[in-house]
Amino acid sequence: MSENRSIPKHVAIIMDGNGRWATQRGLERQEGHIAGAKAVRAAIRAAATAGVDYVTLYTFSTENWGRPEAEINAIMELFCYMVQSQVEELIKEGVRVKIMGERSRFPEKVLSQIDYIEESTAKGETLTLILAFNYSSRREMVFAAQAIARRVAEGQIKVEEIDEELFSRSLMTAGVPDPDLIIRTSGEYRLSNFLLWQASYAELYFPEVLWPDFTEEDFNRALDIYAGRERRYGLVIQEKEER
Ligand code: FPP
Repeated sequence: MSENRSIPKHVAIIMDGNGRWATQRGLERQEGHIAGAKAVRAAIRAAATAGVDYVTLYTFSTENWGRPEAEINAIMELFCYMVQSQVEELIKEGVRVKIMGERSRFPEKVLSQIDYIEESTAKGETLTLILAFNYSSRREMVFAAQAIARRVAEGQIKVEEIDEELFSRSLMTAGVPDPDLIIRTSGEYRLSNFLLWQASYAELYFPEVLWPDFTEEDFNRALDIYAGRERRYGLVIQEKEER
């Protein structure tokens, strides 16, 4: 690890492979999510230590409502347990937690834990942890389009004023820089309806490791790989002159 490697401001992670991890061990899928929650702690710690400003975790997609009820309930319970068991440490570490997604459909208990974790960590300044929870990137874009259309219809803005910046500000990620690095574990090479607009210039990294086995070293390896990539944003980059 070099001392002055470039550190991504925002790392987004698709935490995939919990189910396979459990099945390989003859366990219920829920056990994979419990093990995955431990990997969440490791990733947050590694990100804070490295100086990453934002981490977004794909915790529950809108499509995940189609999973068996027992598994959905287990993830909801796990979220509530994580909030209760981690809140003190998160405050101590200066982690500010934000939940990103549609609040409809969540049981009352989950909604109150969402409010609780957001309020109690609101002053954190080391790292912002965004949990994509009941999140769908396509729906997020549809909602943005609706909000903009409403403002046009009400005469607040003109059609010509709609640009990329306004669209970005109308998304759930308003105010958050686009992810520089997106990691998806478990050897799957897809974005699966996650931050599709925001991923336009992100570096993508697909390690084979299943999420519950993802360690601080794996996170640091991802940062090293990111630091070795050349980001061109569609431009031609001149070779630096040797001095
Ligand atoms: C994907 O693995 C994982 C999920 C859908 C749930 C992610 C949840 C956690 C890591 C634990 C909870 C974390 C917090 C922050 C409360 P999969 O089930 O799709 O795995 P598979 O592809 O092997 O079946």
